[in-house]
Amino acid sequence: MNDGRAVRAVYPGSFDPPTNGHLDVIERAAGCFGELIVAVVVNPQKREPMFTLEEREEMIRDCVKNLPNVRVEHFRGLLADYVREQHAAVIIKGLRVVSDFESEMSTALMNRALSDVDTMFLMSDQRYSFVSSSIVKEVFFLGGDVAALVPDPVMRLMAAKRATLRTT
Ligand code: PNS
Repeated sequence: MNDGRAVRAVYPGSFDPPTNGHLDVIERAAGCFGELIVAVVVNPQKREPMFTLEEREEMIRDCVKNLPNVRVEHFRGLLADYVREQHAAVIIKGLRVVSDFESEMSTALMNRALSDVDTMFLMSDQRYSFVSSSIVKEVFFLGGDVAALVPDPVMRLMAAKRATLRTT
């Protein structure tokens, strides 16, 4: 039997920006596996991101500096290829609501067909079941308070970004 602590897992996502829901999944997955790679992805399906890849990586690094078995990277291209290159055995995904499962199921099956890697799902903590990067951005830029929904380093960079947008 395999000990989960010997297994390397990959948690992929756009993280534009990372939320407390993402951080909760990272912390819980890091407790289950030997090493967790948080992989920031350029998602061509999504419109222009608010944060650059480097900013997203930096924000996550800042949030996980107390988790020694978490590494933050980015990749382009197929997740299945990246997972194989990294010799990872598991893809981690968070599920907030049942509708997430519908799209995640076909993605998981495709990734398994491509790379023979399994996807394991963590249910989001119910405090964050309504939290997504897109809803956080929308509320924040319309003046709403999202401080309880994102980690402090993210809040700071969002505020800086908003200030820049106001002066340009
Ligand atoms: O945070 P997101 O944008 O919902 O994450 C989606 C992500 C980045 C995990 C997904 O788009 C992905 O895996 N992209 C990499 C490209 C890929 O492998 N596409 C085929 C998936 S079957």
